[in-house]
Amino acid sequence: MDNSYMPITELCNPFLIRTCALIGGEWCESDSKKYFPVINPATGELLTNVADAGVEEARRAIVAAAQAQSNWMQKPVQERSRLLHAWHALVLKHSDDLALILTLEQGKPLTEARAEIAYGASYIEWFAEEAKRIYGDIIAPQHPDQRIMVIKQPVGVVAAITPWNFPNAMLARKLAPALAAGCAVVAKPAAETPLSALALAWLAEEAGIPAGVINIVPSTDASAIGIEFSSNKLVRKLSFTGSTRVGKILIQQCAEDVKRITLELGGNAPFIVFEDADLDAAVAGAMASKFRNAGQTCVCANRFYIHRNIQSVFCAKLIQAMQSLTIGNGVASETKIGPLISRSAVKKVQSLVDDALKKGARITYQADLDKTLLAIGSYYPPTVLNNIADDSLLLTQEIFGPVVAILPFDSDEEVAKLANDTDYGLAAYCFTRDSKRIKKMSEILATGMLGINTGTISNAMAPFGGVKHSGWGREGSHYGIADYLEIKYICEQI
Ligand code: SIN
Repeated sequence: MDNSYMPITELCNPFLIRTCALIGGEWCESDSKKYFPVINPATGELLTNVADAGVEEARRAIVAAAQAQSNWMQKPVQERSRLLHAWHALVLKHSDDLALILTLEQGKPLTEARAEIAYGASYIEWFAEEAKRIYGDIIAPQHPDQRIMVIKQPVGVVAAITPWNFPNAMLARKLAPALAAGCAVVAKPAAETPLSALALAWLAEEAGIPAGVINIVPSTDASAIGIEFSSNKLVRKLSFTGSTRVGKILIQQCAEDVKRITLELGGNAPFIVFEDADLDAAVAGAMASKFRNAGQTCVCANRFYIHRNIQSVFCAKLIQAMQSLTIGNGVASETKIGPLISRSAVKKVQSLVDDALKKGARITYQADLDKTLLAIGSYYPPTVLNNIADDSLLLTQEIFGPVVAILPFDSDEEVAKLANDTDYGLAAYCFTRDSKRIKKMSEILATGMLGINTGTISNAMAPFGGVKHSGWGREGSHYGIADYLEIKYICEQI
């Protein structure tokens, strides 16, 4: 297939652009000879076409993974660790190219894309080390002539479905612990952003990770691939990052075969600024949390609860900081906010804002958008809304765009109740100097992750994940590998 649309001349290593599925170590065209376009959301231009894999290819990839699995799990952990380290080194070596590919297909500014590549690589490095720390137990027996042992074994073939908002890091966060535990993987990246996943897999191959241990099936038929992943008996675990709606479907589909499942789903993060907070730190935290990836992260602040007595000062400082957000194509060095992933994403954000305005909200700030940008890409201007009615959709749905919804509160009890009044429970943020309040909020906020006086919480050492409708299981940290291991208890009569 013709690759010439991609600015491959700007890449140091053009081999990083892969447009085929990876199945059992072979780069395969799709059986149907169908392709799908990968579009640059900053310009609307076609980047390249990618082979559109179907159920047959997914099935072959699962068989290839199952075949690779038995050798991979028997490799000494030092060897698995060494290969993961080699992969990590190659990702770092090619990080400029990987960042450019990421910006072109996803839209985020290059500085953020570079940060994502480093973030993704940090999971590979972390789990290269965790591979060596898969411990079992010897437990004191009930009878003196017995020995009770507990060993940990890989769950088996893992299917992974990854999103378009962090196409490198979310895949790395699943592949690295799976491989470290001794599992082979078949992954379906989001159809909007397959190139980052394919490049990452190619580097794994270059690092010496054996054929079939990582298989990638790019596809536009997410639902058919999801059904195959959850019903194929060779797959023993599914790991999904994406919407709560799809997560619920996957839970049902996986029930029949009682598959292990890890779900990192949507969020509706409250961002609480108490009266005693350091307001400059709160504004810096708000900027980091809200505008990373143009507001398209699951951990983005969604509802800004600001104590009534400081609301006007906070808003003035926030709006001042927002004025420095240059909007544009992510490849331009001055760009701080890139486009949203697609025009339909822009429409969805606009519909949430329209709903709030209809119910009485006021726009207190909206950045100007260059008309030429609007004509070519899927941009949305950073916006602040006040006076938001309680029944506004902005408060119950993930905004996934650069819109700040400001809400006043008067007391700790009130704000804790409001913050918890959601089905979601992924991330929350609090800004306060009061240590008693920190302790109280740490206990009562129903969330998987809590940032205190910071808007930046994600890193490989920490357990990433949510409660309630935000998901099951944790990724990253030493908890992250546990999801890929079975516990086997052995009772020996001696
Ligand atoms: C996400 O938005 O799903 C992930 C964000 C992160 O890892 O920080």
